[in-house]
Amino acid sequence: MRYAVTRLILSDFRNYRQARLTPAANVVVLTGDNGAGKTNLLEAISFLSPGRGLRGARLGDVTRQGADVWAVAAQVKGAAGAFEVGTGLGRRLAEGGDDDGGERRLVHIDGAPASGPAALGEVLRVAWLTPQMDRLFLDGPPGRRRFLDRLTLALHPAHGREVAAYERAMRERNRLLAEGPADPLWLTALEGRMAEHGVAVAAARLDAVERLQAAADAACGAFPTADLTVEGAVEADLANVPAVEAEDRLKQRLKLARHRDAAMGRTGEGPHLSDLKARHRAKDMAATLCSTGEQKALLIGVVLAAARLSKIDDGAPPVLLLDEITAHLDERRRGALFDELQALAAQAWLSGTDPALFADLKGRADFFAVAAGTITNISD
Ligand SMILES: Nc1ncnc2c1ncn2[C@@H]1O[C@H](COP(=O)(O)OP(=O)(O)OP(=O)(O)O)[C@@H](O)[C@H]1O
Ligand SMILES: [Mg+2]
Repeated sequence: MRYAVTRLILSDFRNYRQARLTPAANVVVLTGDNGAGKTNLLEAISFLSPGRGLRGARLGDVTRQGADVWAVAAQVKGAAGAFEVGTGLGRRLAEGGDDDGGERRLVHIDGAPASGPAALGEVLRVAWLTPQMDRLFLDGPPGRRRFLDRLTLALHPAHGREVAAYERAMRERNRLLAEGPADPLWLTALEGRMAEHGVAVAAARLDAVERLQAAADAACGAFPTADLTVEGAVEADLANVPAVEAEDRLKQRLKLARHRDAAMGRTGEGPHLSDLKARHRAKDMAATLCSTGEQKALLIGVVLAAARLSKIDDGAPPVLLLDEITAHLDERRRGALFDELQALAAQAWLSGTDPALFADLKGRADFFAVAAGTITNISD
């Protein structure tokens, strides 16, 4: 059992006017020149999961230049069965005017409109690694938090909704504080909601990291083991006190911080500020101090461990989107990655400009050539 995209149709998606792909093998290799559309294709698949895709894009930017809206249609298979899935850009009518500029993502599952992108998490699991993530350990906490939340979502399907509920309450509190003298009872109610959902968010992240660590520890592959920790005040509380107590503490801290938060115009406390820290175990060194290649290898190790864990937890490994991953790997690690993918039996999409790097996969993968927004099967 595995999660897989068995048919993919893109319409006005980035540089694709119309494209169609029906992969059969577990491993799918996309090769083509710079700017051909390889990453775009992987991005289209990433939109078959909740969120803003592997580029974190604004929905309107995804629409092919000169076109009106984009769409991705797919047949997907997984632990819950086979589904026809569709997603794309929809526009709100006249009043619009919300944060996303009147744009929102429409989702259909088996022909029926879904309540939102979160529903996609129930029919398909997708994980990715892109060149942009090479700086994951070096850049600021938001990218690492997103990465952590995606890992957590794979193990705790309700995590996305908890994060959304927490952020909704936080935005409401920020707005109330910004508008001037706020009703203290209303603030207390919002802080109560933030504490409830915030502790659930932190607890799910801690659980995910603990189980991920166990999966990483069990591996003896070619990729180094990372020691992962979540840093944050609520996470620290949860290590020492029961969840209800952690909830009370966060509520208290939020209440005490009203003046400060009103002055700052944001909430200076809570799991929306938590961070994921990693150390290279064998070198006993912070990931931030490791070489570019070592950091990449650490990250690959984490993504593979997460896929193994999903396979155990959910009975099926996620679809893996590995953009330009072979470019960073020496021959030994490249071979190890291919072996690991085979052992996982995950559907893995690999992209690169140099077909030679995938020669070892001949006969055990589907090969597609991508050029100027067209896709050609070159498997023979
Ligand atoms: N909304 C859009 N409409 C039309 N074209 C777009 C849009 N967004 C991006 N593009 C173009 O799509 C092309 C393909 O981009 P993509 O990132 O998929 O290339 P790639 O094959 O991954 O290349 P590389 O090997 O350099 O990573 C680029 O030339 C980019 O400018
Ligand atoms: Mg690319």
